[in-house]
Amino acid sequence: MKKRDFLKTITAASIGMPLSMFPATAWLESLNQYPEIDHTTNEDFWSEVRKDYLLKPDYINLESGYYNIIPKPTLDHLMEHIKMVNYQGSYYMRTVQWDNKERMANSLGELLGCTSKNLIITRNTTESLDMVIKGFPWKEGDEAVYALQDYGAMKDMFAQVAHHFGVTTRTVSVPNHPKNDEAIVQLYADAITPNTRLLMVCHMINITGHILPIKKICDMAHSKDVQVMVDGAHCVGHFEFDINDLNCDYYGSSLHKWLAVPLGTGMLYVKDEHINTLWPLFAESKREPGDISRLNHMGTHPVYHDLAIENAIAYYNMLGGKRKEKRLRYLQRYWTDQVRDHKGIIINTPVEPHRSCAIANVGIEGIKPSDLASRLLKDYSIFTVAIDYANVKGCRITPNVFTTTEELDELVRALKEMAQ
Ligand SMILES: Cc1ncc(COP(=O)(O)O)c(C=O)c1O
Repeated sequence: MKKRDFLKTITAASIGMPLSMFPATAWLESLNQYPEIDHTTNEDFWSEVRKDYLLKPDYINLESGYYNIIPKPTLDHLMEHIKMVNYQGSYYMRTVQWDNKERMANSLGELLGCTSKNLIITRNTTESLDMVIKGFPWKEGDEAVYALQDYGAMKDMFAQVAHHFGVTTRTVSVPNHPKNDEAIVQLYADAITPNTRLLMVCHMINITGHILPIKKICDMAHSKDVQVMVDGAHCVGHFEFDINDLNCDYYGSSLHKWLAVPLGTGMLYVKDEHINTLWPLFAESKREPGDISRLNHMGTHPVYHDLAIENAIAYYNMLGGKRKEKRLRYLQRYWTDQVRDHKGIIINTPVEPHRSCAIANVGIEGIKPSDLASRLLKDYSIFTVAIDYANVKGCRITPNVFTTTEELDELVRALKEMAQ
């Protein structure tokens, strides 16, 4: 069926639908009957998706890295959850609060290919990973390994742990353009000593968008008796993977990033054998051994945000995980391929398609990253973020499913003009 006919049918069918069923969403849902159609470069298709987003017209938003704007259907559901919890008050909190949270963990487990027995819903990656770093059963003289390109909050927690428990930290520097997977694995292997207990590694480095060979790093680390904690802040809902396939010990992510759950939602995966050995961030009353809820005490918080997890997953599934991943990678390649070999322009993200997805980083010779970001905004109305540390000098460019190729054409034009 042609798209025009689809739209006619769906528009007619959508009369009388509940408020949250937007026409664009209904159209998308119907398209899933035809999974064999590749929509990666179908701009009509993605402009329908864009209708599910309320976007500020003042600038081109190429900064979806901090968190993702949530689509209108999920926003609608969030509003309904807020009203429902407010209506029921303490009754809600004392009756179904925990069952609902467990249901969200089950949905998330299904999405990520692991069981909810190994998953907790947290507020963000910082909470998830800092719990592991701070709660690891350290002994004086133990060592930890991580990269200069890792996220500041986790590096700060390692510094605190080093001070508190007498732990030594060793850092590696991940090249922006690795020779191959083995070179990256070797980099981490070289930093491990007989005293190393924990290795932290980014699934995707946030400042460059570089995807690392996690399974190979975990296999290597385990062969040396070292546990691996993966920072997957940017990965859930961005590209497809199963946690169990990674063979990691801990995996933390922020669901308010690429899964587009409302702000303040995250997750932590903990392998069976570590559930009892971690110290929780907040103490929980007695639990049976192996019950991961011992790590999940957090006090009273906006529970309605958690409730939107299953709505965001439903939206993501409707969009299609593979379809979204392919589109995001296409958008990144759409602009990077046009400027990668351009004089004066430096792409700080690996060229091999499997080593990146939506995010890439670009610098211009002779222009400070902060100046580049301000000129992009002031002269071209393009919003990005400047990065200037750990061998990365440039602006992080993060398109989303609502980004158009015309917007990226404007970025390419801006970069070429400034490089001249
Ligand atoms: C790689 C990485 N780790 C951790 C975080 C922290 O995420 P949050 O602020 O949601 O806790 C971020 C945030 O951007 C990140 O990029």
